[in-house]
Amino acid sequence: MRMFLLAVAVALALTRATCEDAVLWSNNVDVSASSASELVAGESVVILALDDFNLASFSKAAHAYSSNPADQQDSSVIAAIRAAKYHASEDVSSLPEAASATVIKASNWDQLNEQFSALNLKSGYTGILVDAATLELTRVKRVADDVDFDPNDEAPKPKKLAASPSPSSAPGGVTLKNGGDTPVIVPRWGGGEDFKIDGSAGSCLLYFENITIVVLSKKSIGGSQKAHIVPLGLNKDTYQYNYDCEKKADFNVSKPFVFTVAYTTTAEYKAHGEKPDSLTIAPQTFTVSLTFNVTDGFLLANATLNGLKVTAGTDKDVLPSDASVDGSAIHPSAVPLRAYYGHNFACGRTQAIFFNATLSDVYIGLVFDNIQIQGSGIKATKDGETPQFTRITADCVGTFSSGSWMGIIVAITLASVLMFGFLMLNSVQTMDRFDDPKQKQIVINFKE
Ligand SMILES: *[C@@H]1O[C@H](CO)[C@@H](O)[C@H](O)[C@H]1NC(C)=O
Ligand SMILES: *[C@@H]1O[C@H](CO)[C@@H](O)[C@H](O)[C@H]1NC(C)=O
Ligand SMILES: *[C@@H]1O[C@H](CO)[C@@H](O)[C@H](O)[C@H]1NC(C)=O
Ligand SMILES: *[C@@H]1O[C@H](CO)[C@@H](O)[C@H](O)[C@H]1NC(C)=O
Ligand SMILES: *[C@@H]1O[C@H](CO)[C@@H](O)[C@H](O)[C@H]1NC(C)=O
Repeated sequence: MRMFLLAVAVALALTRATCEDAVLWSNNVDVSASSASELVAGESVVILALDDFNLASFSKAAHAYSSNPADQQDSSVIAAIRAAKYHASEDVSSLPEAASATVIKASNWDQLNEQFSALNLKSGYTGILVDAATLELTRVKRVADDVDFDPNDEAPKPKKLAASPSPSSAPGGVTLKNGGDTPVIVPRWGGGEDFKIDGSAGSCLLYFENITIVVLSKKSIGGSQKAHIVPLGLNKDTYQYNYDCEKKADFNVSKPFVFTVAYTTTAEYKAHGEKPDSLTIAPQTFTVSLTFNVTDGFLLANATLNGLKVTAGTDKDVLPSDASVDGSAIHPSAVPLRAYYGHNFACGRTQAIFFNATLSDVYIGLVFDNIQIQGSGIKATKDGETPQFTRITADCVGTFSSGSWMGIIVAITLASVLMFGFLMLNSVQTMDRFDDPKQKQIVINFKE
């Protein structure tokens, strides 16, 4: 490694200022034998694009000039490069489009390291570290077909967001924008969108923390119901999104508003409970769309789920073989995702929205954890930059939850016992009949 860093230092001295630098590394491909452009087309390529990256900043980050080994306890990207079997550095002017490559974009080393370690790569990948500007040329092109940035806006800036893998469009030809990591916020202001408080943007907002998948065995309905739940969200999942709602001024009560979220699970999820292998959710991307009718408020009118696959595990009773979902919900409007006029809707855990699965024996359902939805008229923080839900919220749990009622009833019972006791004590009469001094004194006759 030391030799390599020295070579980098030498290369640095020779580098012309106009060139873009790239560092390549791999455990199983001899990266010095081929150019970055050739490598990009290969399998399991990870491109790390760092703003203003050059070999000087790389050497600095790698403590190339430090002789103190303690200084070299470095970050994950540098450590990965150090640990790799082959490394090379070269000049690149631009990288060709590579559909299969994973791209991470970051504006500083800390961000890069964070996103890189979140990927949890196995050793057989090829890494390419470049200046983000190298990708810019191709990025605009690549982005153009999956994200609808304004083409004149030559600096689309979802820098902060990890590029999630395709799909770039959802069923029904909906184009998707990168949302980044969960929790899901639609639209993701600050990522692909700029918030304008003047109301020239759509004024709806969706937030949810986690999705939980429910697999319910139809055969068991009526007996003791058998179901498994798989909570997602433990890993850094990513999402892409689209939304369709009106500006506040154009609000149209006959037009439904729609949120579409393509959710990507980055690792395998197991069933909740004692038997985690009962069934699993493999890494995949599925698309959920929620359509709300606007009436006296709004209510869930339709929900669709596409591409969700559940892998059968040890519990063949519930899930005899793999199942998937592509279609709309069985009874969406019966699921209480609704708020009345002027309110937004919030829920700690919604009821399950069930879908028919490819396997006729099961229903597959979605539960949203900590969800909040507003159809129109969102507010902003004081600086006018971050949109917020308004404060008038219809919660799915009424003002008094069953817990509050238990407390209230117990309190009333105890208070009435206390009251009863107090009144009983209060009604005890003392012998005051002969206490009046004007009346005849009590005379007790007695004889010895
Ligand atoms: C979402 O998932 C994370 C990770 O499992 C968990 O810490 C968090 O409590 C979950 N949120 C809700 C509302 O369930
Ligand atoms: C409201 O939406 C409906 C359905 O999309 C559409 O037919 C109608 O023209 C819209 N009205 C206005 C005023 O935009
Ligand atoms: C939602 O609105 C559409 C027409 O705009 C209507 O056909 C549909 O029945 C409505 N759904 C619900 C649940 O109200
Ligand atoms: C829900 O949306 C899907 C896809 O757009 C459509 O095929 C289906 O008919 C809709 N269902 C209802 C009840 O509107
Ligand atoms: C779900 O399946 C049942 C029975 O197979 C069918 O009657 C129903 O129309 C399906 N619902 C949807 C929304 O596809």
